[in-house]
Amino acid sequence: MAIDVILGLQWGDEGKGKIVDYLAGNYDIVARFQGGPNAGHTLKFDGKKYVLHTVPSGIFRPQLINLIGNGVVVNPITLEQEIENLIKAEVDYLPRLLVSRKAHLILPTHCMLDAASEASKGNAKIGSTLKGIGPTYMDKTGRNGLRVGDLESPDFMEKYQALKEKHLKIASIYPAIDYDLEGIEKQWFESLKTLRSLQFVDGEYYINQAIKKGKKVLAEGAQGSMLDIDFGTYPFVTSSNTITAGVCVGLGVAPQLIGEVIGITKAYCTRVGAGPFPSELFDDTGKELGRIGQEFGATTGRPRRCGWIDLPALKYTIMLNGVTQLVVTKIDVMNTFNEIKVATAYGIDGKETDTLPYDINDKKIEPIYRSYSGWECDLDDVVTYEALPSNLKDYVKSLEGILEVPVSMISTGPERKKLIVKEAAVEV
Ligand code: GDP
Ligand code: IMO
Ligand code: MG
Repeated sequence: MAIDVILGLQWGDEGKGKIVDYLAGNYDIVARFQGGPNAGHTLKFDGKKYVLHTVPSGIFRPQLINLIGNGVVVNPITLEQEIENLIKAEVDYLPRLLVSRKAHLILPTHCMLDAASEASKGNAKIGSTLKGIGPTYMDKTGRNGLRVGDLESPDFMEKYQALKEKHLKIASIYPAIDYDLEGIEKQWFESLKTLRSLQFVDGEYYINQAIKKGKKVLAEGAQGSMLDIDFGTYPFVTSSNTITAGVCVGLGVAPQLIGEVIGITKAYCTRVGAGPFPSELFDDTGKELGRIGQEFGATTGRPRRCGWIDLPALKYTIMLNGVTQLVVTKIDVMNTFNEIKVATAYGIDGKETDTLPYDINDKKIEPIYRSYSGWECDLDDVVTYEALPSNLKDYVKSLEGILEVPVSMISTGPERKKLIVKEAAVEV
């Protein structure tokens, strides 16, 4: 039995939460493999909306186990808030939400350092969500971090104090910021009670034994491939490997266990935070995409930058991830457009290319567009692929041709049910 993967192919917010929630019914375990509360995954069903940051998006499916993998960084305060929402929704989370002992803890001083470091950057800001992600992963690779399993250790408080002291020394190199460390620390220690109430596991053994027993596992990505620490638009990236390879190290599974890789892309493109975005639109069309698509960050509420879909970037991330099928989300956002554009290549220094340049941050990139006729109707009553307007099907067919990967599903609205299955996405 293999482990299937769902991840974002753009700069995040592709609709991963919705698709994981939809497909989760076919699995026994959903596991998050990287990122932390910088993620905001929105789920909508039965007229209700939920935003998850740390908890995997399979939590609303009864009986399904949800694992927070070792590659994730956990802030107990955010986790507690998410759990409070689950309790309100009467979700039986306790026996089904597991945390890897090797997941790293985000300390209040990590968040403080994130804020101080960003504030000191002026115009060079990355636009971090300020959730402490960068400093926590720095401590992980710097071999200073505290892990969930350390909560079981008798000298946890000493380890905590030592790391905090280190952070305070580092903070002194930045201009002072307004940060209620004492208050947040108090809340952090109180929230540890909720974290401790969850089952801690050696996630790598847990997953491998489950796979051996024939359990079906779905790995849920956070952020998007263009935010990957190695392959994204560095330094305007997050601090983890968001691509398929991240599943292996973020859960402890061998590469040959990876099965389907389901890549999610919006029918257009968005980015929140700073950094290059070749097909960004600064005109009314960009504003329309943002308005109709309700493009505001699920974690920070910041407006997302909008533009046409970027096929060179998608080809790149399909290659990096070994995508076996595509899911196109938010197609309904373009229902009223009479013309839809697709960036098929980049013009750089007078030459046309469909590869991403190393110095993408500094290059002037002119996207080369192909135009498609819009379908100009709503899709509310459409439930089968065949019944979709022919212009929409032509658009999808063209994407499949250029990207050389089949589209398995098309999302036509935020609700769980608004999904048109073109080909069975996974074996049931
Ligand atoms: P994630 O981080 O990839 O899970 O995505 P987010 O939840 O941050 O952002 C996606 C947004 O689009 C959410 O508000 C979803 O409710 C919404 N959404 C998802 N799929 C669709 C769709 O097909 N159409 C529309 N209109 N909205 C969608
Ligand atoms: P989901 O899982 C969109 C962006 C931030 C910033 C950069 C670095 O909801 O798709 P960080 O807080 O990681 O240090 O920020 O990455 N970013 C996201 N953008 N969706 C996300 O997650 C993101 N997580 C981080 O805006 O530009
Ligand atoms: Mg999001």
